[in-house]
Amino acid sequence: MLKVELKEPMSNSIQIAALAGDGIGPEVMREAIKVLRVAEKKFSLSLQITEAPVGWAGIDAAGAALPDATLALCKKSDAILFGSVGLPDRDPTIPKEQRPERAALLRLRKEFGLFANLRPVRLSKHLAHACPLQPERQGEGIDILVVRELTGGMYFGQPKLTEEIGDGRRRAIDTMVYTTPEIERIAHVGFRAARSRRKKLTSIDKANVLENGILWREVVTRVGKEYPDVELEHMFVDNGAMQLMLRPTQFDVMLCENMFGDILSDEAAALAGSLGMLPSASLGATSGELTFGVYEPAGGTAPDIAGKNLANPLAQILSAAMMLEFSFGQAKAANAIHEAVQRVIADGLRTGDIYTPLDTKAKKVGTREMGDAVAAAVAS
Ligand code: IPM
Ligand code: MG
Repeated sequence: MLKVELKEPMSNSIQIAALAGDGIGPEVMREAIKVLRVAEKKFSLSLQITEAPVGWAGIDAAGAALPDATLALCKKSDAILFGSVGLPDRDPTIPKEQRPERAALLRLRKEFGLFANLRPVRLSKHLAHACPLQPERQGEGIDILVVRELTGGMYFGQPKLTEEIGDGRRRAIDTMVYTTPEIERIAHVGFRAARSRRKKLTSIDKANVLENGILWREVVTRVGKEYPDVELEHMFVDNGAMQLMLRPTQFDVMLCENMFGDILSDEAAALAGSLGMLPSASLGATSGELTFGVYEPAGGTAPDIAGKNLANPLAQILSAAMMLEFSFGQAKAANAIHEAVQRVIADGLRTGDIYTPLDTKAKKVGTREMGDAVAAAVAS
């Protein structure tokens, strides 16, 4: 488990905003809510789940990727369970500032100060076939937590613009910027997570080229002195990308700035068989505790398979489990969901993304069947 802080269990009614979004979002959200309802009953919780449109669904319903009513719902909720947003085919129809990725997802992250993104990558031994690496490189199993800074760096740094520079030429500028407090707080999250795991933290940077990299390395080293029990190592991002392919078992916690974390977490997810297996928690501090959060699968909208009962709902279901644990302190219910997912995988159930005919025990199922199986396993 990847405990960062443990909250006292919330017992009274819990308010959850469920924003399914676009593409496969609604299908996988439906399965996550199904599983949450079963956990609610089994663990005597009281979950008030309110659904609201976001992304293109928000634009179609209320003219904005993050409609005011949806934002208001988020503000009065205890946590947000998020699906995914963005349909690249429709992008040319609206200005870039209004597109769902920026106007909904990045805005929510900024609005709620969700600076700490936790992405656990674990390769189940039953999915060894779905991992692109040969068995000898999988070692005893891959279990990595990517801790990604989420509200700084190039995603938000100013200036950020595209301008005319004459003779029909244009210039695009993105700015990578980090302050020492921003690096310190995410470093603390990383070290605390490492402390509850295998006590190793690999800090990723590009200190051989970037000013940001030099500062990142300096600050992480200083914060690391407060965690003498955690082994700290620094790695350049290009080498980190390579090491993930060569020897992923060397990693416990990988601490990354925003953009590097975006890239390496997708790469790491491939090792776990599929992006459809990667949940995430984006947490912000409320009264010093990291408890408010957006919980979302890292995989995106996958428009090509949307509405076909083909999507893997496990990342969304595991994101719901992370929500129960981090925002509500319901570790037992969260564990029950984790174990249920392990059980259906051990039983051989596979959506297309994790299916391979090489695995003779595997049975191909749809989104709904996978959700039903996890729900049944939680209930039993
Ligand atoms: C992610 C996604 C987002 C990001 C996109 C959709 C803006 O790739 O959560 O990893 O880049 O942060
Ligand atoms: Mg990404």
